[in-house]
Amino acid sequence: MSRLYMNTAPTHIRTSHSQPARHSHYKTPLPSSTIPSANMAGTLPTIDLQELQGSPSSSEKLREACEKWGCFRLVNHGVPVSLMSEMKSVVGELFDLPIDVKRRNVDVLSGSGYVALSSKNPLYEALGLYDMGSTAAVHKFCDQLAASPRHRETILRYAEAIHGVAMQVAARMAESLGVVGSELFEDWPCQFRINKYHFQPETVGSPGVQIHTDSGFLTVLQEDESVGGLEVMDPSDAGYVPVDPVPGSFLVNLGDLATVWSNGKLRNVKHRVQCKEAAVRISIATFLLGPPRETVVEPPPAFVDDGHPRLYRPISYDGFRELRRVTDKHAGEALQLLQGPPPAASMDQI
Ligand code: OGA
Ligand code: NI
Repeated sequence: MSRLYMNTAPTHIRTSHSQPARHSHYKTPLPSSTIPSANMAGTLPTIDLQELQGSPSSSEKLREACEKWGCFRLVNHGVPVSLMSEMKSVVGELFDLPIDVKRRNVDVLSGSGYVALSSKNPLYEALGLYDMGSTAAVHKFCDQLAASPRHRETILRYAEAIHGVAMQVAARMAESLGVVGSELFEDWPCQFRINKYHFQPETVGSPGVQIHTDSGFLTVLQEDESVGGLEVMDPSDAGYVPVDPVPGSFLVNLGDLATVWSNGKLRNVKHRVQCKEAAVRISIATFLLGPPRETVVEPPPAFVDDGHPRLYRPISYDGFRELRRVTDKHAGEALQLLQGPPPAASMDQI
């Protein structure tokens, strides 16, 4: 196994032990960098996926959301609410499996399989697989966990539906920037990750997930519909805006590779999860990562001209993930390392 794929656990997910224990009824004020959602920057945009078909004004709204915010709420996406809630209950049951069974969930990337509660991350547990667009990979995931027929059926239907949503959103977003071709993203792998946050009374007010950007292209997130905590950096970089969950919708956010692919047009939004209450929070994330392994991501020709010189050196998703890991830069700063001429120790040695 190449070094590339080792030790790539989600290192941005760290919980804080440094805070003193608090009583559950005593809610610590949020850090001053958190600003209310009704602020100068406006509220998080909502995008209607059905409406996007052939509507120039909706497409323009999508482009603006992706450039200014780097995230938006997605509604009318075609995934039945019943499937979303069925999946949530299946996910809860998977986390209730014995630890020995959960540990069988290993995958091609370390960190894309089971992540157990640990002293480093005492609140965070995850299960997942690298390529949820592949039915065989989804079956393998179900086999690892000895999923019941009901679990398997739900997971397969959910994976297919969300993969379709990720593909459509990516294609509509590219179109909104003038790049046409719905097949552009079809062979791009999608990592699937289900997260369980074991929030405790003494962790209220501290981070569940540290500030980070997602490393890939685009993320489709089914938040916990009753336990909030997600916060995104507002468009003027003034502070974090709480994102209140809206049942039946998804939260889409763009990652570092969207910025590379778009030659700097698309915003890789910083975000975090704060522990707001002592409760279990489950979220289901699908990460459209980037081009297939070993293929480098490069901007389409339309994004590069004399007025817009190429900003970043080409890099594969795996190479970029490794760059983030070795430099411990998880909040978008790794992009700066792709600017300018290659350093003496060239990227392809990583
Ligand atoms: C992530 C992430 C948010 C959440 O996994 O990258 O930002 O709500 N998750 O779990
Ligand atoms: Ni994230």
